[in-house]
Amino acid sequence: MAHSLPPLPYEMDALAPTISKETLEYHYGKHHKAYVDKLNELIPGTEFENASLEETVKKSEGVIFNNAAQIWNHTFYWNSLTPGGSEPSGAVLEGINKKWGNVDKFKEEFNKSAAGNFGSGWTWLVKKADGSLDIVNTSNAKTPLTTDDVPLLTCDVWEHAYYIDYRNARPKYLESFWKLANWDFANKNLG
Ligand code: FE2
Repeated sequence: MAHSLPPLPYEMDALAPTISKETLEYHYGKHHKAYVDKLNELIPGTEFENASLEETVKKSEGVIFNNAAQIWNHTFYWNSLTPGGSEPSGAVLEGINKKWGNVDKFKEEFNKSAAGNFGSGWTWLVKKADGSLDIVNTSNAKTPLTTDDVPLLTCDVWEHAYYIDYRNARPKYLESFWKLANWDFANKNLG
């Protein structure tokens, strides 16, 4: 079963100026697509030839895992963003207040964690097995999908996510990320 690049949930220019059309043309149109193409090259003749993407992420290792997980992580990231952004509400807001006291404190902790995520990786808001919320960093292609954590929202902190718009200033990109965060998506994942 060949994997396909899921459609971007909005137009390429819909996140501008916070995230430019040029960034999406590269990040979605080239990076995300390249992971799909590479996975499709790698799986014929392996046990993952007919596996779903989630199954592949959960059971594979090495280069198959890296490409499969990057496909899944990027789709999750596009859905973590929405044109015009939104404000935390409902159950996710309650969870944030319970854990960090208020939204500003949560954002501060998230951005601190993301700024300190050395090299390439992802920073996630997750629901732990006990129902509480937490912030988790993963490196390279690693993803909470292989753990007991339920991912609610993610920020891609690979340089390719921000270099065109923010050059090397990851903290500026992180501040801007909150202008686009999709809290409806986080609530949907919280279930
Ligand atoms: Fe990326």
